[in-house]
Amino acid sequence: MIPAEKSKKQILLSGVQPSGNFHIGNYLGAIKQWVEMQKTHRVFAMIADLHAITIPQEPEILYKNTLGVAKLLLACGLDPKKSVIFVQSQIPAHTELGWILNTLTPIGELERMTQFKEKKEKAGVLAGLLNYPTLMAADILLYNSDIVPVGEDQIQHIELTRTLARKFNARFGETFKEPKEYVLKETSRVMALDDPTKKMSKSSANPASYIALLDEPETIRKKIQIAVTDSGKEVAYDEITKPAISNLMRIYSAFSGIGLKEIEAKFSDKGYGEFKHDLADVMVGALTPIQKRYSALTEASVKTVLKKGQKAAAKIADRTLTEAKKKAGFLAT
Ligand code: TYM
Repeated sequence: MIPAEKSKKQILLSGVQPSGNFHIGNYLGAIKQWVEMQKTHRVFAMIADLHAITIPQEPEILYKNTLGVAKLLLACGLDPKKSVIFVQSQIPAHTELGWILNTLTPIGELERMTQFKEKKEKAGVLAGLLNYPTLMAADILLYNSDIVPVGEDQIQHIELTRTLARKFNARFGETFKEPKEYVLKETSRVMALDDPTKKMSKSSANPASYIALLDEPETIRKKIQIAVTDSGKEVAYDEITKPAISNLMRIYSAFSGIGLKEIEAKFSDKGYGEFKHDLADVMVGALTPIQKRYSALTEASVKTVLKKGQKAAAKIADRTLTEAKKKAGFLAT
C-alpha cells in the first residue's frame, strides 16, 4: 500500500454534493467535523459533482453550485493551507477506479442500498443512481482514507466501501485501506422542521423544512417560528414522545455547545415560544459569520483554491490508481 503522504496524520476524506440548498443538516452532520478535524487529520474535502448528475442537472446551475459550495466550504472554515479542497470530476482517477469497482460489485448489493431504494420510486431512475456507491467507494479508497465523517444516510455506502476494499485486496493483493465512518450521534440525522419523522433534505419541496446556510436572519427566525412542535409545552428531551422538540434541542446544542440537560434546565420554566426565540438567536449568531465570509470570497480566489486542490489530489489519486491497475493486470501507460 502506498502511504498517501509523508505526514503521519490520519487521513480524512469526505464529500458533499454541489447544491444550492446546502443546509444545517449537511453542516452539522458532516462539514463542521471536517473543519474541526483539520487540527488532527490530513483533510481531503471533495465536491461530488459526478454524484450530483445522478439526478439530471442544468449545466449552468451545476457550474454555479459547484463554485458556490466551494465558497461555502471555505466560509465554514476549511483552510486551503491545511486541507485539500477539490472537485471530483477534475480527477479522472475517480471514474476509472469507480468502473473497476463496479466489476467487483454484484448488482444485488447496489439494489439493497437504502438511498437507492428510496429514490428509485421516482420516475426515470438512471443507471448512475444505482452505481453511485461504487463511485463513492473509489473516492474514499483512492486517498487511503482512515476516516470518513458523514451523516447517518451514508454509513451503508462506507460499509460497501470496506467490502470492496477487502474484495479487491483478497483478489489482487493488499492495495486499499479499509476506512471507518465517523458519525456524531446527536447530529447524524437532523430532521425536517415540518416533519420530525423525515430527514432534513435539500430536495424537499417545502423550503420551510430546512434552514439553508445562506438563509437571511429573518428567514431563519420565520422558519424556526413555524417549525412543528409536539403536544405539551415543556422543553424536554424525549425522542419518542417529543421528536420535534428533541430535534430542535439537538440543533440548539450543536450550535451553542450547551448540553441537552443544560438546555432543559435553562428552559424549565419557559415554554416553546421562548425556546424557539433563543434557538433562532443562536443559529443567526452561528451562521452570520459564515455568511459574511461567504460574501467576501471572490470567484477567482475560489478557482485558485480548487486548482491547487486538484493538483494535490491528483498526485495521490493517480498513484493509488496506477498501483491498483498494475495489480489487476492492466498494461502500464
Ligand atoms: P450529500 O451531499 O447528500 O450530504 C453531505 C453530507 O451531509 C450529510 N447530511 C446530513 N447529516 C445530518 N442530517 C441530515 N439531515 C443530513 N443530510 C445530509 C450527509 O450524510 C453527508 O455526510 N454521497 C455523498 C457525497 C459523497 C461522499 C463521498 C461522502 C460523495 N463521495 C465520499 C463521503 C465520502 C452525498 O450525497 O452527500
